[in-house]
Amino acid sequence: MHKTIIAHRGMSSLAPENTLAAFSLCKEHGVKWFECDVDILQDGTLVISHDDTLDRCTDKSGRLCDITRNDLESIDAGSWFGDAFTGERIPTLQQLICLANDQQLNLNIEIKSLPAGAELSQLLISNLISELQALNSARELIVSSFNHQVLAEFKRRSPNTSVACLFESHTLGHDWQTIIEYCRADYIHPQNEGLTKEMVREFKDSGIKVNVWTVNDLARANELFNWGVDGICTDIAQQFPSKYRM
Ligand code: G3P
Ligand code: MG
Repeated sequence: MHKTIIAHRGMSSLAPENTLAAFSLCKEHGVKWFECDVDILQDGTLVISHDDTLDRCTDKSGRLCDITRNDLESIDAGSWFGDAFTGERIPTLQQLICLANDQQLNLNIEIKSLPAGAELSQLLISNLISELQALNSARELIVSSFNHQVLAEFKRRSPNTSVACLFESHTLGHDWQTIIEYCRADYIHPQNEGLTKEMVREFKDSGIKVNVWTVNDLARANELFNWGVDGICTDIAQQFPSKYRM
């Protein structure tokens, strides 16, 4: 069975997370898949950022929903990580899709659950569907979210795109299959912590594919693969043996 390694926020232990530098390193290390987080600016521009504020991973503070595309040029998203990355920007989704096409990388795009309201979430879904039209048909894609309402809406409007329900350990209850069916999800993306062999067996028996996040231990990754999981999301993709990185 094919075992997939997904670089979490790009090669995020080698370069600042969710930047073009981090995604560009995938090819160099033979990693075919990356995960990224997509959010929306005030003007509707889709950007790649885990947080909905600038505070943790840039040289500025404030909310993403208060800035526009023009502001991105004056925000440094790399110098917090290391001098070599000074001047790195928060990428737009458009830029990332170009990179994925050029470098033949596959994408797991996580739709962030927005605090700024349903209207902006609707716009995020619309703009995502529209921008994904620029993705080459040879590229593989999974769209995921912890927000299962948003994910179900995305799948309704883009039925041919594979989608994944994300669960944290404490939100993964006995109703997981009902949620999967509501979303018409192709994948379940459970949190690593607390995941057991029996739970993986239950998922697999239902016919769904399983990618586990975030696994930063090679022995644990091996155990999960032996239990039948299809992929793991990791911050240390470069440390995996070459059989996973061809
Ligand atoms: O998609 C897996 C993982 O990215 C989910 O958690 O908080 O790192 O986006 P988070
Ligand atoms: Mg994520």
